[in-house]
Formats: sequence, structure tokens, C-alpha cells
Amino acid sequence: MAALLETEQENADSFFASAPPLQDRELITSDAQKFVSRRLQLEPEDKTSNPRARVVCVTSGGTTVPLERRCVRFIDNFSSGHRGAASTEYFLKAGYAVIFINRRGSAQPFCRSLPEDPLLTCFEPDDKGAIRPTATHAATVQRAIKEHHLAIKAGNLLNLQYTTLFEYIQILQIVSIAMNPLRQNGMFYLAAAVSDFYVPWNSMVEHKIQSRTGPLAMELAQVPKMLTLLRQLWAPLAFCVSFKLETDTEILIKKAQQALKRYRMHAVVANELQTRKQKVIVVTDRGETIVERDESHTDVEIPLVDFLINQQTSYINASAE
Ligand code: PMT
Repeated sequence: MAALLETEQENADSFFASAPPLQDRELITSDAQKFVSRRLQLEPEDKTSNPRARVVCVTSGGTTVPLERRCVRFIDNFSSGHRGAASTEYFLKAGYAVIFINRRGSAQPFCRSLPEDPLLTCFEPDDKGAIRPTATHAATVQRAIKEHHLAIKAGNLLNLQYTTLFEYIQILQIVSIAMNPLRQNGMFYLAAAVSDFYVPWNSMVEHKIQSRTGPLAMELAQVPKMLTLLRQLWAPLAFCVSFKLETDTEILIKKAQQALKRYRMHAVVANELQTRKQKVIVVTDRGETIVERDESHTDVEIPLVDFLINQQTSYINASAE
């Protein structure tokens, strides 16, 4: 394990050394630190059972991998962001504060049922030129705006956005280190689909790749799995949940079990592409639990978030013994 950590640390060091500097790094760092310290101050006497003492970092959406520095072309990873946005809503409902690291343009909490371009299709001018929600969308728009503002005003939701893999990994590191003081009251819920391969910044061409030179051969480097560093260095006491997506059900559970062991996760959520909105299987060291959307549940994230909150409570209780 020590050798794996050393290798991952070296890979990560070279990744960070060559990554383009994150815009607004100082602002993101201070926002994350302030957000966490508000929760630490609020911490009640009974830390074990009160979700209000807890912060979850939800990652969501897919990362892009640029092929040129002045990026025209990029490789993308599949994820609509629905899982992360829905889960954020249910964690907030349960009393958690949420740091929502999400891909720009992907699904957002409270707006999942709105059309894709809500400004243009959800609102209309009235006779006097004032803008109001259309009759069809009025209730949903009002609820979305109200719940979003409530969460932000109460200091319960911090929204951090990325597009590229470089931004995602740097933001995840900043947030993990900021969450470390929460100890067992921190949770990572890593639903983002993160690219496994990338073009290192120092070997990336500056300008648009020209097509007249014929077929393109490109070697992609392997992205360091930051899960090892997160678990062992950045926030070693936090409760960690990663996800495993496969299209072949035959290998899904095996891959999730391997991830659980290799990265010392507390739970791995296994999902298959076609059925991911109906059913997931949570793999822990106690075995597999099928979590399904039932008729009264509109989202599989309701029982999933509930299950994981209970798992974190058991983890906190066991750590307190
Ligand atoms: O967004 P939706 O359309 O609703 O879909 C949700 C989802 C299917 C994308 C989601 O449920 C899901 O499965 N996400 C993880 C996809 C995946 O298989 O990721 P991965 O194998 O690249 O990574 C495994 C885990 O490590 C993930 O939790 C990932 O967030 C994390 N990871 C991976 C690489 C890396 N460098 N850092 C990471 O944190």
C-alpha cells in the first residue's frame, strides 16, 4: 500500500506540475474553507447522529480533455449530471451542507424537471412587458428559485464549476483538503465521470491541429487515480463513496469490489448505463445491497442517499467507540 501511495503521489505531482493554473484558485480555496468552517462552528454536542454537522462533496458531470491549448477539439466523458444534481437535493433535504462540484452546463439541483433553456421557454412577457413564468412552468420555476436561494442563503450549498479534467482535479484537491477538519463528518460522493486518459499540458500543441496532415495518431497519458490520495492524504477520515459505471453487467460487481479494496472506499455504487436511473448496487465490505426506485420514489437517489447517510452514521458511531 505504501508503494502504491508513493507511485500515485509521484504521478499526481507530475500531473499538478504540468496542469494549467486554475483560475480563481484563491477564491475557490477561501470559499471552500469558509463554507466548511461555518459547519464546524455550528457543530452540535451530539456529532454522531446530527446530519447538520455534516458536509458532503458531490461531484457531478463529465470532464473534458482538451487536445489543443487553444482548445477547439476535446474528448468528453458521458454524464448528464442528473445523478449529482438529484443527490444534492436529497442531501440538502436531509440536513447536510453540500459542496457541489459540477460540469458547467450539466444538470443543476432543483431544475431537473425544467426545459433545457428555461430562461427562454419558462418565462414570458405580460401585457405591461414584465417577465413572468409561463402557466405551465410557474409552480416548478417558483419552487426551483425558492429552494435554490434558501440553500445558498442558509450557507448550505456551495456550487463550484469545472469544464476540463485539469480544473476538476485541482478543485477536488482544494475541497478535500478544506474538508479534512470535518473528520468523519465529511463525505465524498464521487458521481462525476472522470477521464482516464489525457494529453499532458506540456506536450499539448498550442494551436488547432491541422487535418491536412492526414490521420491523427496521439498517445494519451493515464490520469492518476486521485482516490488513493484523497483517502490517504487529503481527507483520510472522511466517508468515501465512489461510483463504477459499466455497460457489461457481467463485470460490473467485480470491478466495484476491486475499486472498494484498491482505493479503500467505504462504499462503491455500481451502476449499468441503461438501468442507472432505476437501480444501483452498493458494494461495501459487508456485501452488496440492491437499491431500487420503487413506485413511491421518483428518483433512485432517494433510497440511495438515505442508505449512504445511514452507512455514514454507522461509520461515525464505530469511530467514536
Ligand atoms: O450523470 P448521469 O447521466 O446521471 O450518470 C451518472 C453516472 C452514470 C455518470 C454516475 O452514476 C457514475 O457512475 N459515475 C462514475 C463513472 C465512472 O465509472 O467513473 P470512473 O471509472 O472513471 O471512476 C471511478 C470513480 O473514481 C468515480 O467515482 C470517479 O468520480 C472517481 N475518479 C476517477 C478518476 C479520477 N482521476 N478521479 C476520480 O475521482
